[in-house]
Amino acid sequence: MRIRSVLCCAVNSFLKMPTTKGKKWVLKQHFQGMPKRSDMDLVEFDLPAVTDGTVLLEAVYLSVDPYMRPYTARFPVGITMIGEQIARVIESKNDKFPVGTNVCTRAGWVTHSVSDGEGLIKIPPYPAGVPLSLALGTIGMPGFTANYGLVDICNPKAGEVVVVSGAAGAVGSVVGQIAKILGCKVIGYAGSDAKVAWLKELGFDEAFNYKTVDLDATLKSAAPNGVDCYFDNVGGQFATTVLNNMARFGRIACCGAISSYNDTAPVKFPAVHGTIVFKELKMQGFIISTYANRWPEWMKQHIGWVKEGKLKYSEHVTDGFENMFDAFMGLFTGANTGKAVVKV
Ligand SMILES: NC(=O)c1ccc[n+]([C@@H]2O[C@H](COP(=O)([O-])OP(=O)(O)OC[C@H]3O[C@@H](n4cnc5c(N)ncnc54)[C@H](OP(=O)(O)O)[C@@H]3O)[C@@H](O)[C@H]2O)c1
Repeated sequence: MRIRSVLCCAVNSFLKMPTTKGKKWVLKQHFQGMPKRSDMDLVEFDLPAVTDGTVLLEAVYLSVDPYMRPYTARFPVGITMIGEQIARVIESKNDKFPVGTNVCTRAGWVTHSVSDGEGLIKIPPYPAGVPLSLALGTIGMPGFTANYGLVDICNPKAGEVVVVSGAAGAVGSVVGQIAKILGCKVIGYAGSDAKVAWLKELGFDEAFNYKTVDLDATLKSAAPNGVDCYFDNVGGQFATTVLNNMARFGRIACCGAISSYNDTAPVKFPAVHGTIVFKELKMQGFIISTYANRWPEWMKQHIGWVKEGKLKYSEHVTDGFENMFDAFMGLFTGANTGKAVVKV
């Protein structure tokens, strides 16, 4: 046996087995204001060999998410752009992940990667007709973000009024639908009439295009007794206006602040302390990765809801790894309805 393995190594090195090439997006400089194409480079690289215990992964779908904009500032220039993807095992020397296994991995913006299995999440078989890409959306990180922020932080009771901003996005669309499952009145805000029409199809009780309405006036008419729960995806002046329309003992889940991610001037803190005190509000921020231990529970629940038709979804699919940057920018121009993904 030993002689045969030594011989194999010798033959491989003699034949100079070709190295697998991959492509990756590298951060060339930190973003200032709106990200620019020139802040990144798309480069080819050599992958390490697949050794005992490792697997070679090929990206199938990659996620673009708003957090990538603020989070890259925490990393040095030269990193591979951060992010999650669905990948397929195409070569394996790890019995836990045979060839053909579909996984979620935080490999970043790369076409191929070699992994020792650490941190890989196997994607269970989905019901017929449910796309694999939902592991990056409704049945993945954004969907679970919606669940935690709404159920655990806002904790709405049947009949209460829930407001969600960024309502037609990956997180927001799931928030509204879970709130409907819980028997709430749901009011959603999104940035186009087409998005508003989709929210109504999803069962939102009220939906508004925040670019064309008076936010304060719509809140006063749609929630005359005040807002019990606000799921905040956008922050800024929008959030301040909603806070001023909260009911007593209202709860606010601070999920994101996309309205300020590209600001260059320091964000002015809105004057909300008085409102929080006198309306006895509860406000909590959260980062969903803190609750990664609950992934299996949420995965089961969301697969069930999708199967029952209670959680509907839309995906904005961009074709081609070379178009990752454009797909990412679409998040800040509102190009996406539902989850934005890139198909390799
Ligand atoms: N806390 C966590 O762990 C966690 C996890 C995931 C996501 N998040 C946050 O949740 C929010 C939604 O994320 P997502 O993945 O679901 O993204 P998304 O909503 O699918 O996409 C982003 C959407 O934001 C809206 N938008 C862009 N610029 C805006 C602005 N200046 N003001 C208001 N809206 C703006 C656009 O929709 P319109 O056309 O409607 O404007 C755009 O389609 C983000 O703030 C994100 O950072 C937080």
